[in-house]
Amino acid sequence: MNENIQFLQAFLKNPGTVGSITPSSPELANKMIAGLRPGPDNIVIELGVGTGAITKYLQHIVPDERSYLGIEIDRHLVRSLRKKYSDLTFVRGNATDLADIHNRSGMGNVGAIICCLPFVSLPNKLGEKILQEIDKYMQQGCTFRTFQYAHGFYFPSAVRLREFMRRRYGKAQRSPMIVKNVPPAYTLTWSAN
Ligand SMILES: C[S@@+](CC[C@H](N)C(=O)[O-])C[C@H]1O[C@@H](n2cnc3c(N)ncnc32)[C@H](O)[C@@H]1O
Repeated sequence: MNENIQFLQAFLKNPGTVGSITPSSPELANKMIAGLRPGPDNIVIELGVGTGAITKYLQHIVPDERSYLGIEIDRHLVRSLRKKYSDLTFVRGNATDLADIHNRSGMGNVGAIICCLPFVSLPNKLGEKILQEIDKYMQQGCTFRTFQYAHGFYFPSAVRLREFMRRRYGKAQRSPMIVKNVPPAYTLTWSAN
């Protein structure tokens, strides 16, 4: 099935969980993976994989199947991701269980978390729980990168996420606005060291 239609279907079923009507553009995907060097003991975790708009580019810098773990809550999307990217590992699960899922996977240390979750439309409590999970890995020296849409940049939940990270890890490295994305977006990166 066409990726845009599949994404739209997922959105229409669960608008708040999917948070966007179109997948990320190649320009945004490339910004999301810039500078990452995944390896078996420096794995990259992708939260909220969707139809794989970012995975499509990430797969080229992932050296083997032990270096990537994708977590996605929608079982239909997970089924299709497993078919499309048969060399990569996808777990159907909730990002609130990040540490459990990673521990059960038996994979190595986490070097980077690429987060595509729509914090703006997720319930606050869920967002907080996910940030606590991410923080466990930040404390071990991981890099955290997410994107925020320009129109939602000052929404309370977007500001809350930035404040949570800023208080612990300083100001984000923010990309220029990526206008070749619908809607335009910024990437934000925090590194623990
Ligand atoms: C904005 S879409 C991003 C999809 C894709 N990465 C992209 O950039 O086009 C957000 C994705 O996060 C997933 N998601 C939302 N809440 C989640 C959660 N708590 N745990 C895991 N995945 C979640 C949704 O099902 C959806 O596929």
